[in-house]
Amino acid sequence: MQFSVIESPMLMMQFCISTLCNILASVFSKICYWTPGLRTSSTSSIPQIDGEVNQSKNATTPTSVNYHFTRKCNYKCGFCFHTAKTSFVLPLDEAQRGLKLLKEAGMEKINFSGGEPFLHEKGDFLGKLVQYCKQDLQLPSVSIVSNGSMIKEKWFQKYGDDLDILAISCDSFDEETNQLIGRTQGKKSHVDNLHKIRNWCQQYKVAFKINSVINTFNVDEDMTENILQLNPVRWKVFQCLLIDGENAGEEALREAERFVIEEQVFQEFLERHSGVPCLVPESNEKMRNSYLILDEYMRFLDCREGRKDPSKSILDVGVKEAISFSGFDEKMFLVRGGKYVWSKADMKLEW
Ligand SMILES: C[S@@+](CC[C@H](N)C(=O)[O-])C[C@H]1O[C@@H](n2cnc3c(N)ncnc32)[C@H](O)[C@@H]1O
Ligand code: SF4
Repeated sequence: MQFSVIESPMLMMQFCISTLCNILASVFSKICYWTPGLRTSSTSSIPQIDGEVNQSKNATTPTSVNYHFTRKCNYKCGFCFHTAKTSFVLPLDEAQRGLKLLKEAGMEKINFSGGEPFLHEKGDFLGKLVQYCKQDLQLPSVSIVSNGSMIKEKWFQKYGDDLDILAISCDSFDEETNQLIGRTQGKKSHVDNLHKIRNWCQQYKVAFKINSVINTFNVDEDMTENILQLNPVRWKVFQCLLIDGENAGEEALREAERFVIEEQVFQEFLERHSGVPCLVPESNEKMRNSYLILDEYMRFLDCREGRKDPSKSILDVGVKEAISFSGFDEKMFLVRGGKYVWSKADMKLEW
Protein backbone atom coordinates (compact mmCIF):
# COMPACT_ATOMS: atom_id res chain seq x y z
CA MET A 1 0.00 0.00 0.00
CA GLN A 2 1.33 3.47 -0.86
CA PHE A 3 1.14 6.34 1.66
CA SER A 4 1.71 10.04 1.01
CA VAL A 5 4.26 12.29 2.76
CA ILE A 6 1.41 14.13 4.49
CA GLU A 7 0.22 10.95 6.16
CA SER A 8 3.63 10.11 7.71
CA PRO A 9 4.99 12.73 10.23
CA MET A 10 8.48 11.12 10.02
CA LEU A 11 8.61 11.37 6.22
CA MET A 12 7.13 14.87 6.43
CA MET A 13 10.03 15.97 8.69
CA GLN A 14 12.67 14.36 6.40
CA PHE A 15 11.06 16.07 3.40
CA CYS A 16 11.21 19.50 5.14
CA ILE A 17 14.89 19.06 6.15
CA SER A 18 15.89 17.96 2.68
CA THR A 19 14.03 20.90 1.06
CA LEU A 20 15.70 23.35 3.47
CA CYS A 21 19.14 21.87 2.65
CA ASN A 22 18.50 22.24 -1.08
CA ILE A 23 17.49 25.89 -0.67
CA LEU A 24 20.57 26.65 1.47
CA ALA A 25 22.86 24.85 -1.02
CA SER A 26 21.42 26.84 -3.91
CA VAL A 27 21.79 30.19 -2.05
CA PHE A 28 25.36 29.29 -1.02
CA SER A 29 26.43 28.37 -4.55
CA LYS A 30 24.98 31.65 -5.89
CA ILE A 31 26.88 33.69 -3.24
CA CYS A 32 30.09 31.83 -4.19
CA TYR A 33 29.48 32.54 -7.87
CA TRP A 34 28.83 36.26 -7.53
CA THR A 35 31.48 37.03 -4.85
CA PRO A 36 34.87 37.24 -6.65
CA GLY A 37 36.89 36.13 -3.61
CA LEU A 38 34.66 33.11 -3.08
CA ARG A 39 34.12 32.11 -6.69
CA THR A 40 35.64 28.73 -7.29
CA SER A 41 36.94 27.29 -10.52
CA SER A 42 35.80 23.99 -11.93
CA THR A 43 39.17 22.70 -10.74
CA SER A 44 38.71 23.77 -7.16
CA SER A 45 37.34 22.20 -4.04
CA ILE A 46 33.73 23.25 -3.60
CA PRO A 47 32.62 23.39 0.06
CA GLN A 48 29.33 21.49 0.53
CA ILE A 49 26.50 22.27 2.93
CA ASP A 50 27.30 19.26 5.13
CA GLY A 51 30.95 20.37 5.50
CA GLU A 52 32.31 17.77 3.12
CA VAL A 53 34.50 18.70 0.17
CA ASN A 54 33.63 17.73 -3.40
CA GLN A 55 36.57 17.49 -5.80
CA SER A 56 35.08 18.36 -9.19
CA LYS A 57 35.72 15.74 -11.85
CA ASN A 58 35.80 18.48 -14.51
CA ALA A 59 39.06 19.99 -13.26
CA THR A 60 40.57 22.31 -15.88
CA THR A 61 44.27 21.75 -16.33
CA PRO A 62 46.18 24.24 -18.49
CA THR A 63 47.66 21.40 -20.58
CA SER A 64 48.20 23.55 -23.66
CA VAL A 65 48.50 27.34 -23.35
CA ASN A 66 48.80 30.15 -25.90
CA TYR A 67 50.70 33.12 -24.54
CA HIS A 68 50.23 36.27 -26.64
CA PHE A 69 52.99 38.21 -24.85
CA THR A 70 52.88 41.15 -27.28
CA ARG A 71 50.13 42.76 -29.33
CA LYS A 72 52.47 44.74 -31.59
CA CYS A 73 52.90 43.63 -35.19
CA ASN A 74 54.60 44.74 -38.40
CA TYR A 75 51.79 43.34 -40.62
CA LYS A 76 48.28 44.65 -41.14
CA CYS A 77 46.13 41.58 -41.85
CA GLY A 78 42.63 43.00 -42.27
CA PHE A 79 40.98 40.12 -40.38
CA CYS A 80 43.38 40.06 -37.40
CA PHE A 81 41.65 39.11 -34.11
CA HIS A 82 44.52 39.97 -31.75
CA THR A 83 45.29 43.62 -32.40
CA ALA A 84 47.72 46.23 -31.01
CA LYS A 85 45.40 47.59 -28.31
CA THR A 86 48.41 48.02 -25.96
CA SER A 87 52.18 47.99 -26.43
CA PHE A 88 52.74 46.35 -23.03
CA VAL A 89 55.12 43.41 -22.60
CA LEU A 90 55.90 41.93 -19.17
CA PRO A 91 59.50 42.05 -17.90
CA LEU A 92 61.28 38.76 -18.66
CA ASP A 93 61.46 37.60 -15.02
CA GLU A 94 57.72 38.17 -14.53
CA ALA A 95 56.85 36.28 -17.70
CA GLN A 96 59.08 33.43 -16.52
CA ARG A 97 57.40 33.45 -13.10
CA GLY A 98 54.01 33.08 -14.80
CA LEU A 99 55.26 30.24 -17.00
CA LYS A 100 56.55 28.44 -13.91
CA LEU A 101 53.12 28.79 -12.26
CA LEU A 102 51.53 27.28 -15.37
CA LYS A 103 53.99 24.38 -15.37
CA GLU A 104 53.19 23.71 -11.70
CA ALA A 105 49.47 23.70 -12.63
CA GLY A 106 50.03 21.00 -15.28
CA MET A 107 51.07 22.80 -18.48
CA GLU A 108 52.71 20.47 -21.04
CA LYS A 109 52.69 22.67 -24.12
CA ILE A 110 53.30 26.39 -24.52
CA ASN A 111 52.70 28.27 -27.74
CA PHE A 112 54.08 31.79 -28.09
CA SER A 113 51.99 34.09 -30.24
CA GLY A 114 51.09 37.75 -30.61
CA GLY A 115 51.04 40.25 -32.32
CA GLU A 116 54.26 39.25 -33.93
CA PRO A 117 56.39 37.36 -31.37
CA PHE A 118 59.71 37.95 -33.23
CA LEU A 119 59.30 41.74 -33.04
CA HIS A 120 60.11 42.44 -29.36
CA GLU A 121 63.88 42.78 -28.79
CA LYS A 122 64.40 41.36 -32.30
CA GLY A 123 63.32 37.90 -31.19
CA ASP A 124 65.68 37.70 -28.19
CA PHE A 125 62.86 38.02 -25.64
CA LEU A 126 61.05 35.16 -27.38
CA GLY A 127 64.27 33.11 -27.59
CA LYS A 128 64.86 33.49 -23.85
CA LEU A 129 61.31 32.33 -23.11
CA VAL A 130 61.72 29.34 -25.43
CA GLN A 131 65.02 28.43 -23.75
CA TYR A 132 63.53 28.82 -20.26
CA CYS A 133 60.51 26.64 -21.08
CA LYS A 134 62.58 23.82 -22.54
CA GLN A 135 65.71 23.88 -20.37
CA ASP A 136 64.42 25.06 -16.98
CA LEU A 137 60.79 23.95 -17.05
CA GLN A 138 61.45 20.89 -19.25
CA LEU A 139 58.16 21.30 -21.11
CA PRO A 140 57.45 18.49 -23.59
CA SER A 141 56.41 20.98 -26.25
CA VAL A 142 57.46 24.56 -27.01
CA SER A 143 56.05 26.18 -30.15
CA ILE A 144 55.66 29.56 -31.86
CA VAL A 145 53.19 30.98 -34.36
CA SER A 146 54.60 33.82 -36.44
CA ASN A 147 54.12 35.66 -39.71
CA GLY A 148 57.75 34.72 -40.40
CA SER A 149 58.89 38.10 -41.68
CA MET A 150 61.32 38.91 -38.83
CA ILE A 151 63.03 35.54 -38.39
CA LYS A 152 66.77 35.38 -39.02
CA GLU A 153 68.98 32.30 -39.40
CA LYS A 154 70.95 33.46 -36.32
CA TRP A 155 67.83 32.91 -34.22
CA PHE A 156 67.73 29.23 -35.22
CA GLN A 157 71.44 28.87 -34.42
CA LYS A 158 70.91 30.31 -30.94
CA TYR A 159 67.52 28.94 -29.92
CA GLY A 160 66.48 26.31 -32.49
CA ASP A 161 67.45 23.31 -30.31
CA ASP A 162 64.85 24.29 -27.70
CA LEU A 163 61.97 24.79 -30.12
CA ASP A 164 59.69 21.87 -31.06
CA ILE A 165 57.35 23.47 -33.61
CA LEU A 166 57.37 26.67 -35.66
CA ALA A 167 54.05 27.58 -37.32
CA ILE A 168 54.17 30.19 -40.07
CA SER A 169 50.94 31.83 -41.18
CA CYS A 170 50.31 31.90 -44.91
CA ASP A 171 46.84 32.50 -46.31
CA SER A 172 47.66 32.55 -49.99
CA PHE A 173 50.33 31.50 -52.51
CA ASP A 174 49.36 34.44 -54.68
CA GLU A 175 51.32 37.58 -53.66
CA GLU A 176 48.57 39.89 -54.87
CA THR A 177 46.11 38.21 -52.51
CA ASN A 178 48.59 38.54 -49.64
CA GLN A 179 48.85 42.27 -50.41
CA LEU A 180 45.04 42.58 -50.43
CA ILE A 181 44.77 40.76 -47.11
CA GLY A 182 47.58 42.85 -45.56
CA ARG A 183 49.71 39.76 -44.88
CA THR A 184 52.87 41.56 -45.98
CA GLN A 185 55.31 44.37 -45.25
CA GLY A 186 56.18 46.53 -48.22
CA LYS A 187 56.86 44.57 -51.38
CA LYS A 188 58.64 41.60 -49.74
CA SER A 189 57.44 38.18 -50.90
CA HIS A 190 55.66 36.37 -48.09
CA VAL A 191 55.79 33.08 -50.00
CA ASP A 192 59.56 33.22 -50.71
CA ASN A 193 60.11 33.83 -47.03
CA LEU A 194 57.90 30.87 -46.14
CA HIS A 195 60.13 28.58 -48.25
CA LYS A 196 63.29 30.01 -46.66
CA ILE A 197 61.98 29.34 -43.15
CA ARG A 198 60.84 25.86 -44.11
CA ASN A 199 64.42 25.06 -45.15
CA TRP A 200 65.85 26.49 -41.92
CA CYS A 201 63.40 24.36 -39.95
CA GLN A 202 64.75 21.29 -41.72
CA GLN A 203 68.37 22.37 -41.23
CA TYR A 204 67.97 23.21 -37.52
CA LYS A 205 65.61 20.32 -36.72
CA VAL A 206 62.43 22.22 -35.86
CA ALA A 207 59.03 20.79 -36.90
CA PHE A 208 57.45 23.07 -39.51
CA LYS A 209 53.75 23.89 -39.50
CA ILE A 210 51.52 26.21 -41.59
CA ASN A 211 48.42 28.17 -40.50
CA SER A 212 45.93 29.58 -43.02
CA VAL A 213 42.88 31.77 -42.44
CA ILE A 214 40.21 31.11 -45.05
CA ASN A 215 38.36 34.29 -45.99
CA THR A 216 36.61 35.96 -48.93
CA PHE A 217 39.96 36.73 -50.64
CA ASN A 218 41.43 33.19 -50.74
CA VAL A 219 38.39 30.91 -50.47
CA ASP A 220 38.48 29.88 -54.16
CA GLU A 221 42.19 29.07 -54.19
CA ASP A 222 43.55 25.54 -54.53
CA MET A 223 46.64 25.34 -52.31
CA THR A 224 47.06 21.56 -52.54
CA GLU A 225 50.24 21.49 -54.62
CA ASN A 226 51.99 24.21 -52.63
CA ILE A 227 51.19 22.62 -49.29
CA LEU A 228 52.23 19.12 -50.43
CA GLN A 229 55.50 20.56 -51.68
CA LEU A 230 56.22 22.36 -48.39
CA ASN A 231 55.20 19.21 -46.48
CA PRO A 232 54.42 20.70 -43.03
CA VAL A 233 53.75 18.39 -40.05
CA ARG A 234 50.34 20.08 -39.70
CA TRP A 235 48.34 22.50 -41.82
CA LYS A 236 45.83 24.36 -39.66
CA VAL A 237 42.99 25.78 -41.71
CA PHE A 238 40.85 28.34 -39.85
CA GLN A 239 37.51 29.78 -40.88
CA CYS A 240 37.91 33.55 -40.43
CA LEU A 241 36.53 34.41 -36.98
CA LEU A 242 35.02 37.68 -35.74
CA ILE A 243 35.79 38.88 -32.22
CA ASP A 244 34.01 41.94 -30.89
CA GLY A 245 36.45 44.66 -29.78
CA GLU A 246 39.27 43.17 -31.91
CA ASN A 247 38.07 42.91 -35.52
CA ALA A 248 34.39 43.81 -35.17
CA GLY A 249 32.33 46.45 -33.38
CA GLU A 250 32.96 50.07 -32.44
CA GLU A 251 36.09 49.72 -30.30
CA ALA A 252 37.86 47.45 -32.79
CA LEU A 253 41.09 48.32 -34.61
CA ARG A 254 40.11 46.09 -37.56
CA GLU A 255 36.88 45.65 -39.51
CA ALA A 256 36.87 42.02 -40.61
CA GLU A 257 33.24 41.64 -41.69
CA ARG A 258 34.26 41.78 -45.38
CA PHE A 259 36.56 38.75 -44.82
CA VAL A 260 33.98 36.47 -43.23
CA ILE A 261 32.78 33.36 -45.12
CA GLU A 262 29.81 31.04 -44.54
CA GLU A 263 30.31 27.58 -43.04
CA GLN A 264 29.17 25.98 -46.34
CA VAL A 265 31.83 27.82 -48.36
CA PHE A 266 34.44 26.85 -45.78
CA GLN A 267 33.39 23.20 -46.15
CA GLU A 268 33.83 23.47 -49.95
CA PHE A 269 37.38 24.74 -49.41
CA LEU A 270 38.05 21.76 -47.13
CA GLU A 271 36.63 19.29 -49.68
CA ARG A 272 38.85 20.78 -52.39
CA HIS A 273 41.84 20.06 -50.15
CA SER A 274 40.83 16.62 -48.95
CA GLY A 275 43.95 15.20 -50.62
CA VAL A 276 46.20 16.94 -48.08
CA PRO A 277 46.75 14.45 -45.24
CA CYS A 278 48.15 16.95 -42.70
CA LEU A 279 45.12 19.30 -42.95
CA VAL A 280 43.51 20.12 -39.58
CA PRO A 281 40.29 22.14 -40.08
CA GLU A 282 38.93 24.63 -37.56
CA SER A 283 35.49 26.08 -38.11
CA ASN A 284 34.39 29.08 -36.01
CA GLU A 285 32.52 26.73 -33.69
CA LYS A 286 35.56 24.55 -33.07
CA MET A 287 37.90 27.48 -32.63
CA ARG A 288 36.05 29.97 -30.44
CA ASN A 289 36.41 28.49 -26.94
CA SER A 290 38.87 25.67 -27.46
CA TYR A 291 42.05 27.66 -26.84
CA LEU A 292 43.48 28.73 -23.50
CA ILE A 293 44.59 32.25 -24.36
CA LEU A 294 46.81 34.38 -22.12
CA ASP A 295 47.18 38.05 -23.01
CA GLU A 296 50.16 40.38 -22.46
CA TYR A 297 49.32 40.72 -18.73
CA MET A 298 48.96 36.95 -18.35
CA ARG A 299 45.17 37.17 -18.06
CA PHE A 300 43.05 34.39 -19.55
CA LEU A 301 40.73 35.65 -22.27
CA ASP A 302 37.17 34.31 -22.30
CA CYS A 303 35.63 34.32 -25.82
CA ARG A 304 32.21 32.85 -24.93
CA GLU A 305 30.37 36.16 -25.42
CA GLY A 306 31.98 36.76 -28.81
CA ARG A 307 34.60 39.14 -27.36
CA LYS A 308 37.76 38.63 -25.28
CA ASP A 309 36.82 39.15 -21.62
CA PRO A 310 39.93 39.10 -19.40
CA SER A 311 40.32 37.29 -16.08
CA LYS A 312 42.63 38.60 -13.38
CA SER A 313 46.31 37.94 -14.04
CA ILE A 314 47.72 34.57 -12.99
CA LEU A 315 50.58 36.63 -11.50
CA ASP A 316 48.10 38.19 -9.01
CA VAL A 317 45.60 35.43 -8.24
CA GLY A 318 47.30 32.22 -9.40
CA VAL A 319 46.37 29.84 -12.22
CA LYS A 320 43.49 28.06 -10.50
CA GLU A 321 41.52 31.23 -9.80
CA ALA A 322 42.26 32.89 -13.16
CA ILE A 323 41.47 29.82 -15.26
CA SER A 324 37.93 29.68 -13.89
CA PHE A 325 37.28 32.84 -15.96
CA SER A 326 38.86 31.47 -19.16
CA GLY A 327 35.66 30.07 -20.71
CA PHE A 328 37.79 27.16 -21.91
CA ASP A 329 35.91 24.26 -23.52
CA GLU A 330 38.16 21.28 -22.81
CA LYS A 331 35.91 18.85 -24.74
CA MET A 332 36.09 20.96 -27.89
CA PHE A 333 39.87 21.23 -27.41
CA LEU A 334 40.02 17.42 -27.64
CA VAL A 335 37.46 17.25 -30.49
CA ARG A 336 39.50 19.68 -32.63
CA GLY A 337 42.59 17.48 -32.11
CA GLY A 338 44.26 19.91 -29.68
CA LYS A 339 46.22 17.05 -28.13
CA TYR A 340 48.64 15.44 -30.58
CA VAL A 341 52.27 14.31 -30.78
CA TRP A 342 53.78 17.69 -29.99
CA SER A 343 57.39 16.98 -28.92
CA LYS A 344 59.78 16.93 -31.85
CA ALA A 345 61.60 14.05 -30.13
CA ASP A 346 58.45 11.90 -30.57
CA MET A 347 57.66 12.94 -34.16
CA LYS A 348 60.18 10.70 -35.90
CA LEU A 349 60.84 13.33 -38.53
CA GLU A 350 63.41 12.86 -41.26
CA TRP A 351 65.76 15.78 -40.96
C1 LIG B 1 46.93 36.53 -34.11
S1 LIG B 1 48.15 35.65 -35.00
C2 LIG B 1 49.63 36.04 -34.12
C3 LIG B 1 50.88 35.39 -34.65
C4 LIG B 1 51.45 35.94 -35.95
N1 LIG B 1 51.43 37.34 -36.02
C5 LIG B 1 50.78 35.30 -37.13
O1 LIG B 1 50.03 35.97 -37.83
O2 LIG B 1 51.03 34.11 -37.33
C6 LIG B 1 47.86 33.93 -34.53
C7 LIG B 1 47.09 33.12 -35.57
O3 LIG B 1 45.77 33.60 -35.61
C8 LIG B 1 45.36 33.63 -36.96
N2 LIG B 1 44.26 34.60 -37.08
C9 LIG B 1 44.33 35.93 -37.02
N3 LIG B 1 43.11 36.50 -37.19
C10 LIG B 1 42.24 35.49 -37.36
C11 LIG B 1 40.83 35.42 -37.58
N4 LIG B 1 40.08 36.51 -37.65
N5 LIG B 1 40.26 34.21 -37.68
C12 LIG B 1 41.01 33.07 -37.60
N6 LIG B 1 42.34 33.07 -37.38
C13 LIG B 1 42.95 34.27 -37.28
C14 LIG B 1 46.63 34.05 -37.69
O4 LIG B 1 46.58 33.79 -39.07
C15 LIG B 1 47.66 33.21 -36.97
O5 LIG B 1 47.78 31.95 -37.56
S1 SF4 C 1 47.40 37.96 -37.98
FE1 SF4 C 1 48.55 39.47 -39.19
S2 SF4 C 1 48.21 41.46 -38.21
FE2 SF4 C 1 47.54 39.85 -36.78
S3 SF4 C 1 49.28 39.54 -35.48
FE3 SF4 C 1 49.47 38.03 -37.13
S4 SF4 C 1 50.65 39.01 -38.76
FE4 SF4 C 1 50.02 40.60 -37.32
